[in-house]
Amino acid sequence: MASYYINGGNPLHGEITVSGSKNAALGIIAAACVLDGPCVIENMPHVSDIETQLELCRNLGAKVEVDADGTVHFDATSIYTHEITDERARNIRASYYFLGALLARFGKARNYLPGGCNFGTRPIDLHLKGFNAMGAAANLAHGFITLEADDFHGEHIFLDKVSVGATMNLMIAASKAKGRTTIENAAREPHIVDVANFLNSMGAKIRGAGTDVIRIEGREVLPAGSTYAIIPDQIEAGTYMIAAAATRGDVTVRNLIPKHMEPLSAKMDEIGVHMETGDDWIRVWTEPGQELSATSFRTMAYPGFPTDLQPQAVVLLCTCTGMSKMYEDVWASRFQYVDDLKQMGADITVADRVALIQGPRSLTGAMVQARDLRAGAAMVLAGLAATGMTEVFDIHSLERGYEDLILKLRSIGADIRKSSDVYENAEREL
Ligand code: EPZ
Repeated sequence: MASYYINGGNPLHGEITVSGSKNAALGIIAAACVLDGPCVIENMPHVSDIETQLELCRNLGAKVEVDADGTVHFDATSIYTHEITDERARNIRASYYFLGALLARFGKARNYLPGGCNFGTRPIDLHLKGFNAMGAAANLAHGFITLEADDFHGEHIFLDKVSVGATMNLMIAASKAKGRTTIENAAREPHIVDVANFLNSMGAKIRGAGTDVIRIEGREVLPAGSTYAIIPDQIEAGTYMIAAAATRGDVTVRNLIPKHMEPLSAKMDEIGVHMETGDDWIRVWTEPGQELSATSFRTMAYPGFPTDLQPQAVVLLCTCTGMSKMYEDVWASRFQYVDDLKQMGADITVADRVALIQGPRSLTGAMVQARDLRAGAAMVLAGLAATGMTEVFDIHSLERGYEDLILKLRSIGADIRKSSDVYENAEREL
């Protein structure tokens, strides 16, 4: 199993460019499966979750070609089955978007129960309730979900809880269902808007994405034929902004949408981090010797502070002066990585869904695990901020969501290697 080795303690300096949004891309790939013509998707991030999602499409019969620059040529017209039979669907959460897409296309769908990062129970009851209201009966047996509808139609759906996945799945399905669908209490994340914009550019009629009421007029035919570019990844951008502050560096993060970063930049401003914002970039820096102050964070659905930046933000709070609090309101069990941070010298107490972080603490290198994608990113950031050598093991989850992580971090001065690089260097020295 590969590891990252980080020789930390150096401020990061320079410019770094953000890739396309993983979570938008996962939805867009599934949404492309409802189309009645070919399309071109640009700015597709090159990460393993996306490779899996594209492979699942190929197995359904879609024609998928990926250029060297990440542009995807996608043709769903050859999709011939409503059944996902590739076991890799179990490895990624977002494979559940194929339920909505295949239901819209065939009036039936069969898929594995989804997997993904493990931070507590991850139910899909809201997805199923919505599909049920639209006329599809669900059957869960032997690790599979089967959905079947005689008359798949639009409906008025109220989500009892804000859910990114349920909003996206129902929106994709409704784009081709008979009649009008209204989704109330919808999630407003940038990737929801991006999937709606993608579908609209291919002929769908979706209004209100980005607000909590989305209205969709189902279309019998979605002609496609357009080219669409995926938005930059809000969470990748935030990870690098936090890396700059946690190492007391000076980094310009390019190719981001500043509006999407406001939930983070408001908090960074509060603790004393300096920022300058341009059209599609934010420069993040601290003055030499500057102390940052403690504060409280609470994770929430967008436009609240994103849960997917919570572990990275906790690393930054370890370097701030005073007692900070991090409330995790989205996932029941997303503080598992705290034990690893404690091994690096962090002073953190977790009580149910709040972490109390006493700082500043000088972090020191240790051997720590990438327990999930964002916890792994937090370990890398902690390694960059710590003095000495940190080994982050089980890095496969990190490779699911960060394109060229090592190359990008090295370009701003990080001393980071993957274990295979370490062996290569050792061989060269011999
Ligand atoms: C998406 O997961 C993201 N994944 C997650 O990012 C992210 O943490 C999460 O949204 C919240 O922002 C993808 O986009 C692929 P939810 P999702 O449905 O859609 C409860 C990453 O690191 N809920 O918004 O699965 C649920 O238990 C990943 O990139 C129900 O109760 O999240 C949770 O408490 C990890 N019933 C809350 O809603 C349901 O049917 C929010 O979940 C669905 C969800």
